[in-house]
Amino acid sequence: MMNTQVLLKRRPQGAPVAEDFEAVDNAMPQINEGQALIKNQYISMDAGFRNWMDEGAGDDVLPAMALGEPVMGLTVGEVQESRHPTLKAGDLVMGRLAWERYSIASDDFLVVLETHEQNVPTHYHLGILGDTGMSAYFGLTDIGQPAANETVLISAAGGAVGYVAGQIAKIMGAARVVGLTSSDAKGERLKAELGYDDFINYRQPNLEAAFQSACPEGIDVYFDNVGGPILETVLNHINVAARIPFCGAVADYSNPRPVGPPNLFQIVTNSVRLQGFMTHLQVSRYPEARAQLMTWLNQGQLSSVTQEYAGVSQCGTAFADLFAGKNFGKTIVAVDH
Ligand SMILES: NC(=O)c1ccc[n+]([C@@H]2O[C@H](COP(=O)([O-])OP(=O)(O)OC[C@H]3O[C@@H](n4cnc5c(N)ncnc54)[C@H](OP(=O)(O)O)[C@@H]3O)[C@@H](O)[C@H]2O)c1
Repeated sequence: MMNTQVLLKRRPQGAPVAEDFEAVDNAMPQINEGQALIKNQYISMDAGFRNWMDEGAGDDVLPAMALGEPVMGLTVGEVQESRHPTLKAGDLVMGRLAWERYSIASDDFLVVLETHEQNVPTHYHLGILGDTGMSAYFGLTDIGQPAANETVLISAAGGAVGYVAGQIAKIMGAARVVGLTSSDAKGERLKAELGYDDFINYRQPNLEAAFQSACPEGIDVYFDNVGGPILETVLNHINVAARIPFCGAVADYSNPRPVGPPNLFQIVTNSVRLQGFMTHLQVSRYPEARAQLMTWLNQGQLSSVTQEYAGVSQCGTAFADLFAGKNFGKTIVAVDH
């Protein structure tokens, strides 16, 4: 038996393309004392991992990815064999491993899923109940806190975090939920499938007029997934005491010289709170977040939307599609298909 792995073949220049990655068949890994063999079932595609693909990109969160090595990513899979002190054969685990069929786990960040958490499709633990779904939950409940008469704007509105954030903002009772996205076709899906009230196609020429029309009462919560130049226009329409949960900056990940907006002073004059957050640092609150998301799912208030690619060799294409805006919902790769 061979282990299919997807390697970082070359460092992406700007937005990643499928040719930056290469699928190869290697020998099955053998475990040593303290390790477990995981058979990955689904691999999560997360734009944020682009951050660690550049030379010398290591930071407090992760090391830079090595050329010629399997690409780091979040997966969900089953422990096949274990010499690890706490992981047992048969455990279902979610955590940071790599784009490959089989992984060796030792001290990696892994969460063992409890039996009661296994009554849902396994890939939910990478999406709606995983890092991205919980990011939407923490960003809105801790920071955004939309009130009943308020307007919520969400960037990358159809992406893995945004499509959940839009639904939660509605559940929390926001008066108006608007999505920023790259095409009218995606915008129409936001309205038809996810309950968004309106959308703004940020590629159109007259952005000011589009903001005025979609957010006539201004913006009270801006759930930001993209960073980049659009923040300048958002700040021109921001309301007093608005909140900006700053979740990610996908517009900047491929840009060697990101530039900030010139009108940041709007944050001062409008007493706006802009706050970043990292979901993986809130592991102790995962049960709370998952329980609430499960309740909303069971009540039919929240739905899971996935874009699934078949086969581990598709990881490169699936990842590149995130940056080409070809995704909608949570992007996952099914390892066996
Ligand atoms: N803070 C945390 O703990 C945490 C956890 C998870 C994720 N995140 C961050 O959350 C953000 C969203 O992640 P995700 O998984 O939801 O995204 P995703 O599903 O990977 O989708 C990315 C979306 O970003 C948009 N996009 C791509 N390139 C862009 C560009 N140059 N300018 C503007 N928009 C661009 C595209 O949407 P359109 O086609 O609609 O533009 C695309 O669909 C990322 O920044 C990620 O790093 C943070």
